[in-house]
Amino acid sequence: MKKILVTGALGQIGSELLGKLRETYGTDNVIGTDIREAEGSHNDGPFEIVDVTNAEQLHEVANKYNIDTVMHLAALLSAKAEVYPKVAWDINMGGLVNALEVARELDLKFFTPSSIGAFGPSTPKDNTPQDTLQRPNTMYGVNKVAGELLADYYYHRFGVDTRGVRFPGLISYVAPPGGGTTDYAVEIYYEATKKKAYHSYIGEGTKMDMMYMPDALNAIIQLMESDPAKLEHRNAFNISAISAAPEDFETAIQKHIPDFKLSYDVDPVRQNIANSWPNSIDSSVASKEWGFKADYDIDRMTKEMLEKVEQKLVKQ
Ligand code: SER
Repeated sequence: MKKILVTGALGQIGSELLGKLRETYGTDNVIGTDIREAEGSHNDGPFEIVDVTNAEQLHEVANKYNIDTVMHLAALLSAKAEVYPKVAWDINMGGLVNALEVARELDLKFFTPSSIGAFGPSTPKDNTPQDTLQRPNTMYGVNKVAGELLADYYYHRFGVDTRGVRFPGLISYVAPPGGGTTDYAVEIYYEATKKKAYHSYIGEGTKMDMMYMPDALNAIIQLMESDPAKLEHRNAFNISAISAAPEDFETAIQKHIPDFKLSYDVDPVRQNIANSWPNSIDSSVASKEWGFKADYDIDRMTKEMLEKVEQKLVKQ
């Protein structure tokens, strides 16, 4: 990877990945793109407006910078996709096929994330294997399964070096997530800091996989830099760090804010999505094929999240 184009560079993952890639590969070698104008540090290096559903525009920008890698992140998350299913199809699938076509035509390495959302109610819930039943019942899940298959297809059919992971819910103090089912696990830290209380829209006992953003960013780079000869599963490696329900966050937060109170105000749409996802996925294939390892458990992450959110709120 020498010259990388990132789509969705202002989104939940992109806004942090952009900085990390620029630190690692050089500012001028990482081209951020998004549907809106960049602000602040995202403008420190090359940045272009790209609507991923516009194949021509994506192609033009990729050509202009002579890139060798695309990291395609532009997508709608699960809860938003449930509200606007046709829009989700157009952006998530239309954008993906356009990005894969650019990778095919320009002979680029390719990364795109799948998700725990690619699993459904008939998937084994605990320690979900890498290769298992995938019959999701959400538009986001349909997009993710189709995306995994499409990326595999471009590898087998055209030899495009496609790679990907199934991300769990990602937790960060930098960019607020928008429209995800796992977002409560970010909001809880802000509300704990501001009000020492949080109403969770996900019910008690609902476990889902989670990961702190630094682990997610390291995983992307590690997978993309790994020896292709060792990759049996190119796309959609299960990776996870934490399996937690709202009350697990409560316990972790109370170690720092003893009077923190968690209550529940369950949103049926997001609860249904959460119920269809695994409790915990098995990341052992990713560990075996490219050495995946997460550094943050819930306690280490919670300590850092509370410190960083506090600093952020003081500055505002
Ligand atoms: N965090 C994502 C979501 O909730 C899962 O991929 O939609």
